[in-house]
Amino acid sequence: MCGIVGYVGREQAAPILLDGLSKLEYRGYDSAGICVYDGAALQVAKTKGRLQNLIDLTRGGASLPGTSGIGHTRWATHGAPSDKNSHPHMSDGRKFSVVHNGIIENYLPLKEMLEKKGMQFHSETDTEVVANLIEYFYAQGATFRQAVRKAVARVEGSYALGVLCADVPGTVIGVKKDSPLIFGYGQGRNFIASDVPAILKYTRDVVYLNDGDLLEMTADSVTFYNTHGEVVEKKTEHVTWEISAAEKGGYAHFMLKEIYEQPKAVRDTIHPRIREGRIVLDDIQFPAEYLKNLRRIYIVACGSAYYVGVHGKYIIENLCRVPVEPVLASEFRYADPVLDDTTLVIIISQSGETADTLAALREAKCRGARVLAVVNVVGSSIAKAADDVLYTWAGPEIAVATTKAFSTQLAVMYLLALYIAQELHTLPPERYDALMAALQRLPEQLEEVLSPENVTAIQYYAAQYFNNRDVFFIGRNLDSATCLEGSLKLKEIAYIHSEAYPAGELKHGPISLIENGTLVVATATNPALFDKTMSNVKEVSARGADVLGITIRGFEDAIHKTMDSAIFVPQTEVLFQASMSVIPLQTFAYYVALMRGCDVDKPRNLAKSVTVE
Ligand code: AGP
Repeated sequence: MCGIVGYVGREQAAPILLDGLSKLEYRGYDSAGICVYDGAALQVAKTKGRLQNLIDLTRGGASLPGTSGIGHTRWATHGAPSDKNSHPHMSDGRKFSVVHNGIIENYLPLKEMLEKKGMQFHSETDTEVVANLIEYFYAQGATFRQAVRKAVARVEGSYALGVLCADVPGTVIGVKKDSPLIFGYGQGRNFIASDVPAILKYTRDVVYLNDGDLLEMTADSVTFYNTHGEVVEKKTEHVTWEISAAEKGGYAHFMLKEIYEQPKAVRDTIHPRIREGRIVLDDIQFPAEYLKNLRRIYIVACGSAYYVGVHGKYIIENLCRVPVEPVLASEFRYADPVLDDTTLVIIISQSGETADTLAALREAKCRGARVLAVVNVVGSSIAKAADDVLYTWAGPEIAVATTKAFSTQLAVMYLLALYIAQELHTLPPERYDALMAALQRLPEQLEEVLSPENVTAIQYYAAQYFNNRDVFFIGRNLDSATCLEGSLKLKEIAYIHSEAYPAGELKHGPISLIENGTLVVATATNPALFDKTMSNVKEVSARGADVLGITIRGFEDAIHKTMDSAIFVPQTEVLFQASMSVIPLQTFAYYVALMRGCDVDKPRNLAKSVTVE
């Protein structure tokens, strides 16, 4: 996730662009840059680090004259945070400048094609391909707009682009697919941006672009085109939010916004790694024969990331038949683990900076294991120290309680398990194909989980139970792993004591804590284990517990035989079902916390990145 902004008007562009970027830093903050047309040529200023570095470099924009320009604040995906990887990217002949939010999935073949035509590249990014592709078509006689249209037609993936052309001063082109882009109407000035806050100071009249839309704007005009190149009218919306709400995209909290971003984040993480029905992990460079000799996998992490590891055990063992052990990072380094070059250590971390996890990674490397990191922050300490990195493309996560990072880490577990299974031939082709089809359907199904009916039901149950002092989460197999995360969410943000147990384990002790009014959340999404979990539900109901069920659609009648309250999620492969059931658990914790008056985004005693042991 990155932030882009564009301006054409009569005032100096650079200070306006910098101001816009300052409202988009929540979308990424590892580098920033602007490009303006100074009356003679395109001039770029860009630098690694926070926006303040760019403000200092350009003296608040004063050093860059010109009344049209584009700007960018970056959340690195392709290429570490650095000056050269910062946007805007110039085309090789310096005719075009591009800012981009999204991921160009086929940038490698496009880059190869352009290199063969003699074009040079100066960064490791996917974006530079777009700048050069536009220049390539322009050199063949296309106009500025035609060249942009031709370039995006060749691109696969997601993009919101802002483009400048040195030959067409005073014009900015914007185009989008699967990444947000808005247009803002000014008086004698016009804007584009990733999000409303960037331009709210200047205008409240905006147009939300649809996928495939392209716009061409000058200081006094704007023309919108659809995918077919036809001129279209767009509806103008008047924004009534205040800036503080707008930064959260209209949501009350970052956590809620991030809950709703999960379908897209999972799509962004999965989609680029599937080609022609197979998993392609370009980012991993395992030595030849490495997987064939693999004897054991450890998954090492903290908190929610560790719970992803608990899911990973079920998934990888089931699909790959390799033993997997999830271990808490804070314990791993002191546990004298048995490691050698037949062991793979998978390290999972959103921030990439968690001290316990980093120390465990170093220990694993010292003991001769290969380390694969699953990380959300490009260029973080864990990403740098690992042998291989698989990035989760969740974008910046602001709320302390993780939601979208968890879901994308889970998605990476699916990708990795299927990749290892594919390489080791542990699955019959029909089973592999069925899992691949289910994986590709997942983002769409996650949208269904967040349907207004489901969210209303969750709010209703939150209102019913927010005063409970003790909550138990029970489930079997993968459902028990998801319960761990549901329980942590409730503890973290709603400050309610809760426990998660495999459903069959309650009777061995904890059931003594069940009394009248204790809430038990029963997650039962595996049809083969459904009846067994319902037996455990009956045991707690008989002792006075209130039970809230999470199950799959199609099991409405079955679950209502045992309990009145339940939330339903779409059915997928059992191994992927956790992606569906964790969302109601997160959302339930969110509304319970809200009703208890807790500070949802910044819970007490917690920090987003735990950099102490
Ligand atoms: C999750 O909601 C927590 N904030 C916490 O458990 C977190 O997952 C843990 O601290 C690990 O952080 P990391 O993913 O950045 O390494």
